[in-house]
Amino acid sequence: MSSRLQRCEGPDLLPERQYRAVRAATEALAAPLSSEDCQVQSMPDASPVKWHLAHTSWFFETFLLTPLLRGYRPVDPAYSVLFNSYYVGVGERHPRGRRGLLTRPSLEDVYAYRRHVDAAMAEMMACVPAASWRNRVELGLHHEQQHQELILMDIQHALSCNPLQPAYRAGEAAHGDGAPTQWVGVPGGLYEIGHDGNGFAFDNEAPRHRVWLERFEIADRLVTAGDYLRFIEAGGYRSPQLWLSDGWAAVEADGWAAPLYWREGGDGWTCFSLEGRKPVDPSVPLLHVSYYEADAFARWAGCRLPTEAEWEVAADQSRLRQCDDRAWQWTASPYVAYPGYVPATGAIGEYNGKFMVNQFVLRGGSPATPPGHSRPSYRNFYPPSARWAFSGIRLARG
Ligand code: AVJ
Ligand code: FE
Repeated sequence: MSSRLQRCEGPDLLPERQYRAVRAATEALAAPLSSEDCQVQSMPDASPVKWHLAHTSWFFETFLLTPLLRGYRPVDPAYSVLFNSYYVGVGERHPRGRRGLLTRPSLEDVYAYRRHVDAAMAEMMACVPAASWRNRVELGLHHEQQHQELILMDIQHALSCNPLQPAYRAGEAAHGDGAPTQWVGVPGGLYEIGHDGNGFAFDNEAPRHRVWLERFEIADRLVTAGDYLRFIEAGGYRSPQLWLSDGWAAVEADGWAAPLYWREGGDGWTCFSLEGRKPVDPSVPLLHVSYYEADAFARWAGCRLPTEAEWEVAADQSRLRQCDDRAWQWTASPYVAYPGYVPATGAIGEYNGKFMVNQFVLRGGSPATPPGHSRPSYRNFYPPSARWAFSGIRLARG
């Protein structure tokens, strides 16, 4: 298992230092962007970078400063509405699809908001006993790391909509190693999955529980862009028998003929990424497919997608290459509660539990995932039609 998925035991840092490091990492992601870049919302699912910068601060203000720091008043009562994502228990929310219309507060005001929250958090961590905030600060930092990946997903989508096809950063994506797939056999039997309680986990990773698995095989590498090109060339997008009904409906309604960001021109296929538009490199892990495309590809290949339990058992046994940081991998598992799951009480209980319908679990991590953020029990989730996440495919069979 590579280091990304090794438990990150609060990388030897005090919470105060972790706080500063995570907050600075968010701002470093925004640093190459102009204020116009930070303003735009390219689709209802994607948020402006400015909104991400504010919302992550709102999270600390709402769930730590207001309840715990005596005399703390929210910076602006309007922010409590504008930057509340979805917590009905906290109060009113600005509609998600209209975040791009928030030309005020300015980006500068949002940075001032961040500074204000940072100063109050420093005071809180210095003056209030750690027992009352340690876990919640940890949650706030993992929350902010989730938004770091969302910032990259969302800005890639926004930049892709610009005919100039601007690059977010210079450079090339890493090459694949071209190694052929090895099939890893896992014997049937009784296994345990779920977080074991050592270190941080989101509530949706618990409780750890037993699962019965039949014998299966799982690919030790991810599906590459080259693998997927063969599916396209074989007419995968014109073969309804390969597709789930809802998937075929999306192919027809949205004209899908390739992954998101792919385009066919005179010189062959190109793909837009954070590094701009480049020829498709067949050796790299495929990114930006929906669950429907992952499922159709697997069927075409005579395979299937692994369940999340299969994925986790194989990852726990360190049997997967590229299990961690090349792509989030769609699993065949609907995102539902583990047996015995209990969300936290209060508004914070809305964090994960209420989304456990109509979505599928993805496992692994991506080049946009902050180092140390993911782990073998980590459950990412998106609706089956979503393509703007850094989502790819690992095959299973048996
Ligand atoms: C786990 C990435 C689906 O985008 O809503 C951010 C992460 N949760 N703030 C999402 C999240 C609360 C979540 N995903
Ligand atoms: Fe959030």
